[in-house]
Amino acid sequence: MNKYELGGVLLGRDVIKNKVKELAKEISLYYKNKPVHVIGVLKGSVIFLSDLVREVDRSIQMKLDFLSVSSYGASTKSSGVVKINKDLDESVVNKNLLIVEDIVDTGLTLQYLINILRERSPKEIKVCSLLDKPERRIVDLKADFYGFTIPDEFVVGYGLDYGGYWRNLPDIHILRKVD
Ligand code: IMP
Ligand code: MG
Repeated sequence: MNKYELGGVLLGRDVIKNKVKELAKEISLYYKNKPVHVIGVLKGSVIFLSDLVREVDRSIQMKLDFLSVSSYGASTKSSGVVKINKDLDESVVNKNLLIVEDIVDTGLTLQYLINILRERSPKEIKVCSLLDKPERRIVDLKADFYGFTIPDEFVVGYGLDYGGYWRNLPDIHILRKVD
């Protein structure tokens, strides 16, 4: 059993803040003339989502809903098993969905989510992810809006966790293995 400790900062709070503003601009432009139904994937996306939606232009018609999936236990490797633990409150029929995720790693979680949501007849599904870890991708999937491409490192902070911890950190850190 490996132990992990907090490593150095990969993305500091100011860098994140600027990127969130840029993303919000892109999103405001894209949803200028259509209402958006934002779907937050709990729990990893909550910090990012709450910063992001407050930077979106106030003229945008927006609703928020949340769902919770589990793809990882207290492990840094994907189990490939994705389960809905908490479903959305509202119907998504004929809505413009924007799924907000913390990170796209293997892509399995998002692919599963998109497939489930597609069956519920939304008008459109777009994806916004703060982080993209393309080296580990298993399925062919790319977010429509994304913040940073990161190397194949396990990261925590700004919503991202290891075993439930470290979500509250304001910066994104690399997790370091201790021998
Ligand atoms: P995927 O299904 O492999 O794309 O994994 C997606 C989910 O795994 C994310 O929503 C995260 O919850 C988690 N995850 C993947 N990589 C990391 C990481 O580096 N740090 C923290 N969580 C991660
Ligand atoms: Mg997550």
